[in-house]
Amino acid sequence: MSRNPKQDADDEKREAMKRRAAESAVSVVEDGDVVGLGTGSTAAYAIRELGRRVDEGLDVRGVPTSHGARALAVEEGVPLTSLDVETPDVAIDGADAFDASLNLVKGGGAAHAREKVVAKSADRVVIVADETKEREELDVPVPLEVLEFAVPHVRECIEETGGEFALRESGGKDGPVVTDNGNVVADAEFSEDGADGYDAPELAETLDGMTGIVEHGLFVDVADEVRVGREDGVEIKK
Ligand code: A5P
Repeated sequence: MSRNPKQDADDEKREAMKRRAAESAVSVVEDGDVVGLGTGSTAAYAIRELGRRVDEGLDVRGVPTSHGARALAVEEGVPLTSLDVETPDVAIDGADAFDASLNLVKGGGAAHAREKVVAKSADRVVIVADETKEREELDVPVPLEVLEFAVPHVRECIEETGGEFALRESGGKDGPVVTDNGNVVADAEFSEDGADGYDAPELAETLDGMTGIVEHGLFVDVADEVRVGREDGVEIKK
């Protein structure tokens, strides 16, 4: 199938914005640091850049947030450690969306539970994203990692709060996506088309209180900064 040249050019621009943001984040990493390694296509640019700096002699150890991040770090020659041994000086990770208060939605890659643990263990959390992720108010579906046994209960709780609950189907197998932790993933929609977004801190508190949700993808008061890749450079939002 032939590709649309405009789409190709837009994709290329967006990849360049992601790479710019990621490389700018890696510039904060210092010799001896432990670095939280995020998951997703933007965080992958950061892992590759870290690998390049390791090649040049930088001494770092990474704490991966997923099987994918770990595999890429191994491929790129980034030495690994774990939270059993030490905690990150800085965590670098992507986001599906962020607002002006630096609240985030994460979990497009179903890794948000480990990502939240690594981010909350880190001294500094640097989020990397291209400008398409910026929102005035968060309105995108919230990923939920859910105990498979608890799906009917969690579905009911989400619907009671006015949300819509959809198990995320796997592309590579029949049935739902199963996380690195052996749970299923759902996406909860709280914002109808054309309507305003949701109040992220309030919704996060509600989701925190739902039994059966292992972790949700709202990150409130977690990010210290968001590095936004734009066509002409990187904006640092703090
Ligand atoms: C992984 O579960 C996510 O939290 C990702 O960090 C997020 O989906 C952003 O991914 P991209 O950088 O690929 O858009």
